[in-house]
Amino acid sequence: MADLEGHFDRTIARDQRIEPRDWMPDGYRATMVRQIAQHAHSEIIGMQPEGEWITRAPSLRRKAILLAKVQDEAGHGLYLYSAAETLGADRAELTDKLIEGRQKYSSIFNYPTLGYADVGVIGWLVDGAAICNQVPLCRSSYGPYARAMIRICKEESFHQRQGYELLLTMMKGTADQRAMVQDAVDRWWWPSLMMFGPPDDASPNTARSMAWKIKRHTNDELRQRFVDMTVPQAAVLGVTLPDPELRWNPERGHHDFGAIDWSELQRVISGDGPCNAERLARRRAAHEDGAWVREAAAAHARKAAARAAREPQEVAG
Ligand SMILES: [Fe+2]
Ligand SMILES: [Fe+2]
Repeated sequence: MADLEGHFDRTIARDQRIEPRDWMPDGYRATMVRQIAQHAHSEIIGMQPEGEWITRAPSLRRKAILLAKVQDEAGHGLYLYSAAETLGADRAELTDKLIEGRQKYSSIFNYPTLGYADVGVIGWLVDGAAICNQVPLCRSSYGPYARAMIRICKEESFHQRQGYELLLTMMKGTADQRAMVQDAVDRWWWPSLMMFGPPDDASPNTARSMAWKIKRHTNDELRQRFVDMTVPQAAVLGVTLPDPELRWNPERGHHDFGAIDWSELQRVISGDGPCNAERLARRRAAHEDGAWVREAAAAHARKAAARAAREPQEVAG
């Protein structure tokens, strides 16, 4: 036992990856399952706010882009459920936990999308914040998660650019279009900052996750990085970020920003955001509607296995 633990500690210390076959502390396994499941759920629920706009896209080009983007998010969810399965988690059980409200997904998806500018702002700010969070996870200590994250981050960066390009186009349009963009920025800015989680002094698990190299930076470090990255992009776009205290601090070499309303995050996390009930209801309905597909796939797999067992020569041939 001491041997196994020593091997785990040395692997982490050398910055090497923990793989599914390796021994790992129960706490590490549970933390990874929770984090990966929550991430997978976020990708899947995250299809809803933008998916609502697929049928209302303003052109065929925008529709094709949005369809591809939402489909990417479904793919991210599937890689991540597979990564969770390498830890012994059961995918059906994780889905049950999600639809029964026993596992969380990112609170950002509990806000409504009120217009097409929201699609652009989600790409720019929400996918942008996701990138800040996820790029360091490409070096996360758990191998399957880190490797899934490499591909996911490439697609997320494409998502961010498509959002920004949509906003640039709208900002070159009519006064109404510019007002739609500003309104969407006003609504999504603060929730985007909350995506990095509670402040470091209220985040009791951060130290352990950092020691295990699951996490590489604290919530506040990543939030600061996001603000510093976004301010110049907002200037190019010509929108105002809705924070009168936002300004460059030459001494810190970073932007200062106003206080975040943590009671709002708490409220949304605990189920009382604008769309929590709607998101879960839709996910639950999709799961129930899809039962026949899962049953058919399982029946097909059973038949194929039985056929292979009966006719081994055919398999060999
Ligand atoms: Fe994604
Ligand atoms: Fe994305």
